[in-house]
Amino acid sequence: MKPIRSLVVICLLTWAGPLAAGTATINIDAAKPGPRTNPRMYGIFLENLNHAVDGGLYAELIQNRGFEDAKPPEGFIYHNGRWVDSLGRNAYDAGFARFGYFTNGLPFWSLIKEGDAQGSMHLDMSDPLTPETPRSCRLEIDNPASGRLGIANRGFWGIGVKNGEKFTLSFWARCADGFKGPLTATLEDDEGNALCKPVSVKGITAQWKQFKATLTGRKDNSSARFVLTAGAKGTVWFDMVSLFPANTFKNRPNGLRADIAQMIAGLKPGFVRFPGGCVIEGGTVPTAYNWKNTIGPLPDRTEIWGPWNYRETYGMGFYETLQFCEDLGAKPLYVGFAGETCMFRNVEDVPLPEMGWVETNFLDAIQYANGSPSTAWGKLRAKAGHPKPFGLKMVEVGNEGGTRGFPPRYDLVHSLLKTNYPDLTYINDYSFLRREWMQGQTSDMEDNHFYNSPEWFMNNVHLYDQRDRKLPPVYDGEVAVTSGGGGPDKGNLIAALAEGAFLMGLERNADVVKMVSYAPLLANIHGRTDWHGMIYFDSTRVSGTVSYYLWKLFGENRPDYTVQTDVALQADKAPAITGAIGVGTWNTAAEFKDIRVEQDGKTLYASDFSTNRAAWQEDGGNWSVSDTAYRQSDDAVGLSYFGDENWHDYTLTLKARKLHGAEGFLVMFGHKGGDKYWWNIGGWGDQEHAVEFNQTPVGEHVPGHIEPDRWYDIKIELSDRHIRCYLDGRLIHDVTAASADHFFASAGRDATTGDLIIKAINVSPDPVNAMVNVSGVAGFAPQGQLTVLTSGRLTDNNSIAKPANVAPVTTRLMISDLKFAHDFPANSLTVLRLKKK
Ligand code: AHR
Repeated sequence: MKPIRSLVVICLLTWAGPLAAGTATINIDAAKPGPRTNPRMYGIFLENLNHAVDGGLYAELIQNRGFEDAKPPEGFIYHNGRWVDSLGRNAYDAGFARFGYFTNGLPFWSLIKEGDAQGSMHLDMSDPLTPETPRSCRLEIDNPASGRLGIANRGFWGIGVKNGEKFTLSFWARCADGFKGPLTATLEDDEGNALCKPVSVKGITAQWKQFKATLTGRKDNSSARFVLTAGAKGTVWFDMVSLFPANTFKNRPNGLRADIAQMIAGLKPGFVRFPGGCVIEGGTVPTAYNWKNTIGPLPDRTEIWGPWNYRETYGMGFYETLQFCEDLGAKPLYVGFAGETCMFRNVEDVPLPEMGWVETNFLDAIQYANGSPSTAWGKLRAKAGHPKPFGLKMVEVGNEGGTRGFPPRYDLVHSLLKTNYPDLTYINDYSFLRREWMQGQTSDMEDNHFYNSPEWFMNNVHLYDQRDRKLPPVYDGEVAVTSGGGGPDKGNLIAALAEGAFLMGLERNADVVKMVSYAPLLANIHGRTDWHGMIYFDSTRVSGTVSYYLWKLFGENRPDYTVQTDVALQADKAPAITGAIGVGTWNTAAEFKDIRVEQDGKTLYASDFSTNRAAWQEDGGNWSVSDTAYRQSDDAVGLSYFGDENWHDYTLTLKARKLHGAEGFLVMFGHKGGDKYWWNIGGWGDQEHAVEFNQTPVGEHVPGHIEPDRWYDIKIELSDRHIRCYLDGRLIHDVTAASADHFFASAGRDATTGDLIIKAINVSPDPVNAMVNVSGVAGFAPQGQLTVLTSGRLTDNNSIAKPANVAPVTTRLMISDLKFAHDFPANSLTVLRLKKK
């Protein structure tokens, strides 16, 4: 079924720049329903990235509890100061030192040696607790007499303690050399002041034994450390030293931080996609996710280096995540490793004859989740505490498979799964795969990932309107504004509103789009990678970005079906394409010269690399000047930018020559903030030319390729939003770039309550005065509900310190007429719920 077009904006204008207050008419025909939306359309994607799980949702407070963190990343070798994969390729460094890891000791642990106490702390691999946790900590106590000797851990950037809060301590220990004990456990501040009553633990023997105790906080402190000291001479070994808040989400043992889990629960997710993302792919085959490492008693789980620069404890493993889904009332969507590692690291494929373990891991995961306790894997689930099946119905085969190596591996896994469990829904990630590589391959749903600028999202409100309805339905598994416009933490007001406009388009295309989730979900403010989060936290505080509140409102106000909504807006003309220029390559070496920018006969720039190279801003590649040319000499992605972000209506001319490599040239224009246009000449394996905005096509691709060792004349003419591209004098593209609308509205019905839900997004600094005309219903109750999410500036956001800076406000709305005027505030999402009479 084709969706009705319910976001028709008659006059287009852009969200950027000063705008006069707009006047709009919103015509809603409630008698013209669109397709039904999936009641579980809005869900979450939970990936252990940014210390989302370890150091975050998983409530363990000790960092490196198993003392395994000195282990080098699996599958990597140390080469020229970097951890590179075993093939010695330099492109992907495991980021081992990023969060304070090192190989020759006990990362995140320190020795407490106070007064005259004598002793030392060592990494030890003798007589391990289990083969899966081969390392332990050996404390040699030479003389504890008039001081303190022990070990300390500050957790993940400080342990949060509250007065009266209880903590469950557990550790394994054994001793030698006449150690008579006791051990003393405590929480203290940086000056050594106690934050709880110290607890004494006795009975350490020569055999590994588990000890448990409860610590009770006496004062509030957000950066406490845990200290375990020894009261006698001798040697003590420790392993799996663990401290949990006694109060976890739903009070589950080995559970989750209640405050973070509550924030997630607030989204009322319909499903949970887990555990990745790149986490399932890994940076090398040995670091790819194997769910079998994540089940059973904690000391039996082999910790593995993750792709996000830290080791994963797998304390929140397959079982705990399925349990979390159940506790949230969400359906699990498991993503498994399908034989190809991450294409953004160093892609590696498991050799086809060795794919057996990859294939059976999928089958066994399904049996673990769903099988009866009489099956081999179902029995382990029952033993872990959940005899009833978890009801796993959705399985994604791989994440972001992006090379020709992926389809045959997908085929092996997918056909085995279809044969054994034909009733499950199998999802295949099409974010980077080419459809022509997947000839003959099927899936029940297709995952798409979108990370882009606010403008891109607003420009793509109609993305699925033209989707071939014969293709499988879609799950947009990773959606977020990631450009600079979203602010340093992303998820600011403009990011949220742009995402919201995009979500309106998804709701309207509900026959195609079955599910959607934001990414990444969580970020520890101290343990972030270059990625952002929708929810931020530290040791004691949690806050949601504006995106959090917008997505929550969309989840709460998901219509059961949209109804036809036409928007006519009177507004200003869209601005011209504006921004700086640039040159670059994609896995290719090339050189550029005679670069000129002219506007109305005036020269804005004429390159002379002997004098003005310094003003070029290089991003990747290996740039140098050779004679008069500006050269990028590696077979790499290398971009370099120049000029004024306010340039517009200019003509860019240059000469370019390919030296070697896979493709041709990239010529940038309209580069402003995080946004850019480029002309990709000889792209897609040197087969096509295309103009793109943030790597999304503007107009059609055309066939074409670039010969090496030959100078080409390139010309790009910009006139308003019109782009003309010439290669050696021949016009190749003549296209007009669409501009983003700034006002969006959609309406739909709640089938249970009969409410008419109207959502409107105004991404401009002025209110839009609208006339709303509703037809197809008898009338409304006089009192409805109005919710507004807004702030003074589009760049405003929430933070840990100001968590409610931008939060929704709900009030009563008095409307009973089918035609009414409403002012939609500047920079806002408005949700109107009109109640049935
Ligand atoms: O969400 C962050 C990462 O982005 C995911 O791991 C991956 O799927 C994507 O590239």
